[in-house]
Amino acid sequence: MTKSNAKALSDPTAYAYCLAPTPWMTALRQRPPLTERHPELTAKRIQIEKRFRSLLPGQSETDPVTLGRGILMAVLRLGLKLLRLYEKGRKNALDLRLNEEELFFQNLPPGLEGVRILHLSDLHLPRRFPAFAEKAAALLDGLTVDLCVMTGDYRWGYFGPVDHAPEQISTILSGVRSRYGVVGVFGNHDSFIMGETLEKEGIPLLFNEGIALPFGADTLWVGGIDDPHIFRCTDLKAATAGAPENAWKLLLAHSPEKVREAEALGFSLYLCGHTHGGQIRLPVIGALSYNASCRRSQILGWWQYKNMQGYTSAGLGTTDLPVRYLCPPEATLFTLRKAPKLS
Ligand SMILES: [Fe+2]
Repeated sequence: MTKSNAKALSDPTAYAYCLAPTPWMTALRQRPPLTERHPELTAKRIQIEKRFRSLLPGQSETDPVTLGRGILMAVLRLGLKLLRLYEKGRKNALDLRLNEEELFFQNLPPGLEGVRILHLSDLHLPRRFPAFAEKAAALLDGLTVDLCVMTGDYRWGYFGPVDHAPEQISTILSGVRSRYGVVGVFGNHDSFIMGETLEKEGIPLLFNEGIALPFGADTLWVGGIDDPHIFRCTDLKAATAGAPENAWKLLLAHSPEKVREAEALGFSLYLCGHTHGGQIRLPVIGALSYNASCRRSQILGWWQYKNMQGYTSAGLGTTDLPVRYLCPPEATLFTLRKAPKLS
């Protein structure tokens, strides 16, 4: 722990619960409504949502996104049950882990040494199973971090009500203390209504926007973009607008599908999820499918692209089928470190 962090941790006023009305969280909550911050991209996204995810009366969170996918999942579920693997997969999916990772950067400014970032992705909160949120809360209870970030997919499925999401997220974060609170981005399961619902309940999103967090004389810039996988109303340049010249930049994106563009814009760290690490992995072969246009090396865990490092979370929840194999659900706690000079 650095001297500055040791001092901050001993100061009870420096950290508050994630959703507390700290000055910084209050400033985020006082921004104009989500629909007004990028009106053109908002209109485009809502059109795309109508085309891909039109909400029909009576749909529920367990309805498949397409008939074909529904049939595929039914066959897979039957196969796993016949092989007596289904229950094991369900248990695996609830074996939540907290992974702690130190990330080393040559360009890390002194003020950011030791900064702790809690990353949650793909919570896929099931409305019908609120005990999942309580289990996640127990995993995270007592953590003290500088920032909590969430990289999308807050709902279990693709349809149905979303009003349970803020309450369950509040439960999950109830025991986490964070200097700068929590901020999230949209995933490919998240309709615009999800974003509005979260923000209404005090959980701010970055929709092609960024924010500056001071750490002494240095600045951590946190940019966040729309889901790059399905909705693709992304504007990376807008997510850097207003960044101080010397800020060290972190990008939040749902999937690892904007890596090249992010590196070109000077981001040093890219946090994402979406792939679930495959969710079902086989020995030697790895993920059976990962549903993203990216390098296979970028579908799970740490990776590097030129001057930028990234981490693709396995996610904490599951979707389509509530099972996991060789791919434990994770929350990730990063500590930023200055890399030693190359000799
Ligand atoms: Fe997901």
